[in-house]
Order: sequence, then structure tokens, then C-alpha cells
Amino acid sequence: SQYQKGVKHLWDSGITRVPNKYILPASDRPGLTRDDNQSGNPNLKLPVIDFAHLQGSNRSHALNTLAKACEEYGFFQLTNHGIPSEVILNMVEGSKRFFELPFEERSKYMSTDMYAPVRYGTSFNQNKDRVFCWRDFLKLSCQPLSGVLPFWPSSPVDFRQSAVDYSKQAKFLYLALTEAILESLGLVEATTKNNEYDSLKEFQDGSQLIVVNCYPSCPEPDLTLGMPPHSDYGFLTLLLQDEVKGLQIQHDGRWVTVEPIPNSFVVNVGDHLEIFSNGRYKSVLHRVLVNPLNSRISIASLHSLPVNKTVQPSPKLIDETNPRRYKDTNFASFLDYISSCEPKGKNFLESRK
Ligand code: SIN
Ligand code: FE2
Repeated sequence: SQYQKGVKHLWDSGITRVPNKYILPASDRPGLTRDDNQSGNPNLKLPVIDFAHLQGSNRSHALNTLAKACEEYGFFQLTNHGIPSEVILNMVEGSKRFFELPFEERSKYMSTDMYAPVRYGTSFNQNKDRVFCWRDFLKLSCQPLSGVLPFWPSSPVDFRQSAVDYSKQAKFLYLALTEAILESLGLVEATTKNNEYDSLKEFQDGSQLIVVNCYPSCPEPDLTLGMPPHSDYGFLTLLLQDEVKGLQIQHDGRWVTVEPIPNSFVVNVGDHLEIFSNGRYKSVLHRVLVNPLNSRISIASLHSLPVNKTVQPSPKLIDETNPRRYKDTNFASFLDYISSCEPKGKNFLESRK
């Protein structure tokens, strides 16, 4: 149908109302909870972690903040991450230009194959969703880079190179954060210069997926969502959001807006880390609101273990007082799951308990 062409196409065609295909049942609409930050706790702020502290003499304090953030919010904002601003700027600009390409050019990358090295599409799962969400996306699989690169979009010019640079930097940051997370869980000794974590090795070869989300402005934003409530499947997600707000996370039964902080990342715990930590760190529901005035772009880098590697609670986190809380899983079984049904909330994780 016409909706398979996505919301950028729809918006560019000059619509002034949201078509029925995008209208959520009243109980799922964002309208009533839109201003939770104002009507709820005005002082509520997501934990902010300064990456430089994590790497410096303040590490043990920063590790405590990290642990608390992962336990209580499942989310934190990361400042001072050290990725050169040029790398980020090129990726954001390249992504914007990709979505400005004529639909015919973008559509070359459409695929329903979950393992495709590049996948352009709309909504969440455009073959299954009964109600569509107000989002187009471009997914770039990054593992192994040399194998997938020839399939990535060849225009706009330099996009491939920008995405390579960005994905490498994001991976580097992910590994540093994973090292900190393992330490915060008490799974490794404090870093010493000569000490390479054995436990980090399996993360190095892990999967990485870059997801560029494009949310055009929307004439009736109270009727629809950019992304429905979901949790991320992987170990950690590093999200770059632009200056337009829209991301909300569930905290204490409310939807809380993640206020954009310039030059920062939003980092969140995924299902695999919740499982790995035997439930200590929480994979938290989040969703995206759309906006009548501005379009919004976000770039997520999703990281986990290699696709067929078993994900299970770390044996060191299981004992008599903390019995094992999850069954084994892996990325491949998650992909089977989402291609066979409509993902809703934390259904996948619940099925692993
Ligand atoms: C996501 O949940 O993966 C996207 C979040 C966002 O666009 O802010
Ligand atoms: Fe997400």
C-alpha cells in the first residue's frame, strides 16, 4: 500500500491529517501523559555520567553512579565521550542527506531479511504492524565491516566512510563502557595497565547494528508515536539524539522525557544485559513522541554478543540468595521471535524468564 513508502514520503506529499493507518487506539496514545515531567516530579533528571571520570581517578565513584543508573533507570546520559565532533557531525549530516534522497533511491535498500547488511524501511515491522508508527529507518549491520561495506548506501557521497568512522568510534566507546559495567557488577578486578580482561574478548567480536531513525514532523502528534513502547534486545544501546526531544522512558510508572544534552549519548541497558546481570540491571521500556514543528533524527548503535552466542546470567551472579532468573537465549532467537509476531513491550524478555 501507499504507507509502505514511509512517513517521509507521506509528509513530503503535504498531508495535513494523520491517516487512519497511524492512529493508535485511545489507550495507547501519548496525549494525556505528554507532560509528565511537568505534572510529575519536576526535579527528575536522568543520571549523567562523565566518561572522563570513568577513565580517570574518579573511576570508582563513577562506577557507583553507573551501577545505580543501570539498576534504577536502565538509562543514563554520557558526556565527555571523546568521540571527535567531526565524526558525529558527518554521520548526522550524511544521515539527513540520505533521507532527503528521492524515494526511488532510498527504496533500493528495502529488505525484509533480518540479516541483510542494509535495511531501509518504515514503522517498526512494516509487514506485521496493524497500526504503523511515524518513523522511517535505515539499519546498517556492522559485523564484519569488510563484509557488509559494499552493500551500504553508495549515496550520498561519503556516507559509507562517515558510517564506518562512526561505527568504529561507537564500538570503541561501547567496549570501554562494557568494561566498566563488568567491573561495576564485580566481575573483574580494577583495571591495571597490563591486565586485559578475558571477559571482554567475547564482546569484541560481538554484533553491532547502526539504526538511523527519521521522524518527520507530524500534523497530529497526539494520535500516534514515532516508536511504540519497547525494550532493546542487545547488551547496550548508544543513542545519539539531535536537539529535538521525543524520547521518553518509563520510570516509576510514568513516562519521562529524556532532555537532549548537546554532545552527549543516551546509553541504555538492553535485554541481554538484564539477563547477563541476572536481573540486577534493568532493560527499560521506552518510546518516541513526534512533533508538530520539527523533524527529528536519532542514531542508535546496538551492541551485543555474536549472533549465535548464548546469552545467559553470569554464573558469578547466581547463588542461593540470587537464583538464576532467566533461560538461555541468543540474538538469533530474538530475530526469529520478532519476525514471527508483533513485538509488544517486554514480551521477548518475559518469554525468557
Ligand atoms: C530507539 O528506541 O531505538 C530510538 C529512540 C529515539 O529515537 O530516541
Ligand atoms: Fe529502543
